[in-house]
Amino acid sequence: MINVEEIRKDFPILQRRIRGRRLVYFDNAATTQKPIQVINAIVEYYSKHNANVHRGLHTLSQEASEMYEEAHEVIAKFINAYSWDEVIFCFNTTDAMNIVAYAWGFKNLREGDEIVLTVMDHHSTMLPWRNVAKFKKAVIKYVDITDDGYLNYEDLAQKITEKTKVVVFPIMSNVVGTINDAKKIVKLAHEVDAIVVADGAQSVPHMPTDVRDMGIDFLGFSGHKMLGPTGTGVLWGRRDRLEEMMPFKVGGDTIKDVTLEDVIWHDLPWRFEAGTPNIAGGIGLAEAAKYLMRIGMDNVRQHEKELVEYTFKRFEELGEDITIYGPRNPEDRGGVISFNIKDLHHHTVGRALDLFGIAVRTGMHCAHPLHYRLGIKGTVRASYYIYNTREEIDYLIEALKQIIMLREALKHQPVEEVCTGT
Ligand code: ALA
Repeated sequence: MINVEEIRKDFPILQRRIRGRRLVYFDNAATTQKPIQVINAIVEYYSKHNANVHRGLHTLSQEASEMYEEAHEVIAKFINAYSWDEVIFCFNTTDAMNIVAYAWGFKNLREGDEIVLTVMDHHSTMLPWRNVAKFKKAVIKYVDITDDGYLNYEDLAQKITEKTKVVVFPIMSNVVGTINDAKKIVKLAHEVDAIVVADGAQSVPHMPTDVRDMGIDFLGFSGHKMLGPTGTGVLWGRRDRLEEMMPFKVGGDTIKDVTLEDVIWHDLPWRFEAGTPNIAGGIGLAEAAKYLMRIGMDNVRQHEKELVEYTFKRFEELGEDITIYGPRNPEDRGGVISFNIKDLHHHTVGRALDLFGIAVRTGMHCAHPLHYRLGIKGTVRASYYIYNTREEIDYLIEALKQIIMLREALKHQPVEEVCTGT
């Protein structure tokens, strides 16, 4: 089990008060807070070791290069990659998904090839492949969900054909929280020799990740959603698949040699990390992974499962006033709970919760097609992490009860369709 009280002491921001109230941070699916260990690792790097990597023979450059390479090794261990050089540091999941779509897709897709996406995809996994499909004249197919928010595996089996070259899916939905069956998806895809690209943005920070066991070909995830700095992300790929990709963003550090006629690309992973990387970010991300490994990812998952179970139990008190989306069984879902309050706009509820110091995300969570499929225009989303407690959930329930009591007054509040609606 995890010691939440001790963990909370590592997060300076949790001491903040919002509108005179204790901060309750339930927006972890958007980004997580950072422990002092990560903040210190970045300060230490800039204070003592800062230099460019792979470009200098001087001591600082050697130190920075070593630290940056070691960060790749830590992440490889975190996801059980075969080797550190299959780990490409990038900026976030969106960046990872764009790299694989363009770098693999442009080289390997032909006219008429099929790409299978799901309606529960985040825009970041959906849109890069749609763009590439346009260029390559490939065909996009979407796997549907069931009404209770599970992936429809029968539909998946039908959508995958001999023409399928790529299957893309989120390991966990950022809206309905569903944890998808990676092995089942991989089995179906590999039967027709399609590659499997997994979006790990919501799963990697919250449960054990074993890329070998899942059998996927590519995985993208964000550092900032797992206690690391913003501007950090990872694309992991199986070595043979990475070798099939053309260098996509090219320039400094991607080459071994360049003449006016030719170029010899660098070894993995550097051929895909163009330009001066986010060195401090990579080092901070490794510190975040070490922090999570000390806690144990099984414990992280267990903690969130218990919070979800407790939330559902307390939500029962709100009866017909609340609609919850996605699977109800905590075994099948992560710590992301999207809901709506009867007769109140999701933005109104989000704004009102902020008055209580509770941070949630409201809107369509960068997954518009999923909302259209569910027939809704947005939700309020509470998403948990290692520092969240049952007491905070109690406070959320009390706040929601007060909001429901004030429904008649709140219902007429103007709703700004602000950028959080996307
Ligand atoms: N993808 C992030 C979210 O779901 C930003 O909030």
